[in-house]
Amino acid sequence: MRIRTEEIQDHEAVYQLNVEAFGHREDEAQLIERIRASEGFIPELSIVAEMDHQLAGHILLSKASVVDEDKEHEVIVLAPIAVKPDFQKQGVGAQLIQEGIRKTKELGYGAIFLIGHASYYPKFGFVPARTYGFELKQFEVPDEVFMVCEITEGFLKDWSGELRYPDSFFS
Ligand SMILES: CC(C)(COP(=O)(O)OP(=O)(O)OC[C@H]1O[C@@H](n2cnc3c(N)ncnc32)[C@H](O)[C@@H]1OP(=O)(O)O)[C@@H](O)C(=O)NCCC(=O)NCCS
Repeated sequence: MRIRTEEIQDHEAVYQLNVEAFGHREDEAQLIERIRASEGFIPELSIVAEMDHQLAGHILLSKASVVDEDKEHEVIVLAPIAVKPDFQKQGVGAQLIQEGIRKTKELGYGAIFLIGHASYYPKFGFVPARTYGFELKQFEVPDEVFMVCEITEGFLKDWSGELRYPDSFFS
């Protein structure tokens, strides 16, 4: 398996793999296009996995903010992640998440938030974000699926607030 940064030539295949992984709906594929066109896009954090010379998976991490009274903290959100059905359950998703965390840390960000499967992400260090006092108002989701991973030790200490996804997340 080869994990690398997404290139322009991958865009079409990334679109198709997201459509396939999300049960033939285009919402996530279109979300990726909107994020790529937004100022929250960080090219190094759009990462693909190749297997057998084809695109097997993709992960996107991009900028969001946490509003804490009059302060605003820049954070990263993970969305979406997709692995082609034929390549699922072979560790592709895990490698993409680990590489996403590593690169996010390398770029100097302190935390990654996400909304996702409560049983999948804890093994990568994600915990329910509301236990740290973070709020989410833009989406109504159960507590256990709104998660955060502190990637720089101590980053989440002494503050909290409302996670705000940027406009690109809303079509
Ligand atoms: C969620 C998703 C990205 C996971 O990707 P994946 O490559 O299948 O993930 P992994 O292989 O790392 O892990 C999946 C499971 O396979 C298991 N697994 C990992 N490597 C394995 C291997 N070599 N052999 C067998 N099983 C393996 C893992 O333990 C994990 O088990 P779990 O369900 O108990 O956690 C993928 O299923 C997907 O694209 N789903 C549709 C889109 C989606 O829902 N995206 C996430 C939105 S939050």
